[in-house]
Amino acid sequence: MIEKIRNFCIIAHIDHGKSTLADRLLEVTGTVEERKMQEQLLDSMDLERERGITIKLQPARMQYSPSTSSGTNYFLNLIDTPGHVDFSYEVSRSLAAVEGAILLVDATQGMQAQTLANLYLALDQDLEIVPVMNKIDLPNSDEEKVAKEIMHVLGCEREEILSVSAKTGAGVEELLDALVERVPAPTSEASKGLRALIFDSVYDEYQGVLAYVRVVSGTVKRADGLYFVGTDAKSVTSDVGVFQPEKKAVDKLGPGEIGYIATGLKDVAGCRVGDTIISGKDMERAGELVLSGYEEMKPMVYAGLYPKDGDMYPRLRDGMEKLKLTDASLQYDPDNSPVLGFGFRCGFLGLLHLEIIQERIAREFGVELVVTTPSVAYSVTTTTAKQGTQTNIVNSAQHFPETMVIDQVEEPWVSLDIVTTSEYLGGIMELATRYRGEYKNTEYLETERIILHFELPLASILVDFYDKLKSVSSGFASMNYTVIGYRPADVVKMDILIAEESVEALSMIVYRDEVQTVGKRVVATLKDVLPRQQFVLKIQAALGGKIVAAERLSAMRKDVTAKLYGGDVTRKRKLLEKQKKGKKKMMQSAGKVDIPSSAYMAVLKRE
Ligand code: GTP
Repeated sequence: MIEKIRNFCIIAHIDHGKSTLADRLLEVTGTVEERKMQEQLLDSMDLERERGITIKLQPARMQYSPSTSSGTNYFLNLIDTPGHVDFSYEVSRSLAAVEGAILLVDATQGMQAQTLANLYLALDQDLEIVPVMNKIDLPNSDEEKVAKEIMHVLGCEREEILSVSAKTGAGVEELLDALVERVPAPTSEASKGLRALIFDSVYDEYQGVLAYVRVVSGTVKRADGLYFVGTDAKSVTSDVGVFQPEKKAVDKLGPGEIGYIATGLKDVAGCRVGDTIISGKDMERAGELVLSGYEEMKPMVYAGLYPKDGDMYPRLRDGMEKLKLTDASLQYDPDNSPVLGFGFRCGFLGLLHLEIIQERIAREFGVELVVTTPSVAYSVTTTTAKQGTQTNIVNSAQHFPETMVIDQVEEPWVSLDIVTTSEYLGGIMELATRYRGEYKNTEYLETERIILHFELPLASILVDFYDKLKSVSSGFASMNYTVIGYRPADVVKMDILIAEESVEALSMIVYRDEVQTVGKRVVATLKDVLPRQQFVLKIQAALGGKIVAAERLSAMRKDVTAKLYGGDVTRKRKLLEKQKKGKKKMMQSAGKVDIPSSAYMAVLKRE
């Protein structure tokens, strides 16, 4: 059986036609009848279908008999990989579950940055790459030009590159033949017993946690005891099955196969992507059996999520708990902001992850959210007499220690690849430098098209880098980043003072050399949105005790002389004098200014 299995995935940039091609594969192999074919069957989440992006992997098993094989049936297992960098660990795990990958490139667009990043991951895993150009039915497709790019990055021959139209189905059978022929069958070491790699895990309301696995060796069936090496969880299998692409129970899953195990666990935290499942009997041998590469995902991007309507907090809390069941990489802690009320401080893998969570909360739980400006996780080393030297991860200005005790602050850096054409080189260089990027080198894909390599702080690309990149390149640039580690950062905590009182919720972590620029911007914004008071309102940005930017909002002027008509100038002057004194007094005793939440929003809210 094992020599008849072919496991593969599709690597493609967003919109290059991965889902459409998957649909055609299911159709041509007769896995799904045409009339049942719901477009883009593999993008199973509603959200994905609507936005047209693939977030979750959804596997499928097909049977195919190539025209040349005189009736031999092959089992083709397709895993759909998430295309976005936020999920790059999931991408690399699903790649580890297969022997081959279709490299799918839109023949009207050419190679893009995300495709390249995933291709490099696939090459690292020694996968057999089957290069395919899609959308050849379109008049503006340029197969020769795109073939050159593919040959450049893969170092392959022109004849190895296939052409398909996922829309019309042209070339799809040839592609299936090529998969059978080129992708190696899995191999297995029988002596090792059960070893299954988890490449995804989902929470099913009826069956509890389902582990999507590639069985590397051994077999697994109902009622088998399981041990999860990385998380130390134990359970008993309640069911096993394959994807057709809907779930179908089978008697057992054997070596080389891809399917699901209903684990009987109640919480996805015990069943993490990348972990190895072995037989409960083999617990003592776990160290020897574990498959390489289990990595717990650490959030890198933090933001506060608060319900727009405070009454919705219980519903939000409920939603977070439910989402956590299906998404082990989501982190959240209750937070109580004096202005935004009850909410959560959350950690995400990246910006897309944040967006997905925000949308899911809105859709699945009906809670509209206020999301604060995202920040990164800083690593801060402090020395105090009491606690000695300590390194902590700090993800909000409110928890940033006093300057005096800080030895060093480090921030996450990324390696950033931008694929574009040479005419935009200047603009992009300027942009990346402005965002603290370090230029590394340029690679030529083909005469016009280039890959620019930079390294820069993750914080730089969190807010508006992508939008700026789109605008300097008129949309002809794609980017992809991977976190490469922590590097020293000269950042400080900037305080915002209103009526000379520090407003904790408005403090922020900024680069020391940007304190003035950011400070000016924030106080100017506040000046526009704060209501006038009976007295002159001071709005200041400060570093330690030192003011770095300031604005004054003039007082509301009550016309105390309105009642006077005509005549006596001295009386008028007297009244104005009295008003001035009163205001001075008020200023001294101003104490708390009521800051409306719209003002906080103007500063904190994510655009
Ligand atoms: P993500 O799920 O976001 O990664 O996108 P995808 O790669 O799955 O792309 P999808 O299959 O959604 O295709 C994107 C668009 O291209 C859709 O509008 C498809 O109908 C269209 N498309 C895909 N393949 C072809 C093709 O061969 N020819 C033509 N003309 N259009 C195609």
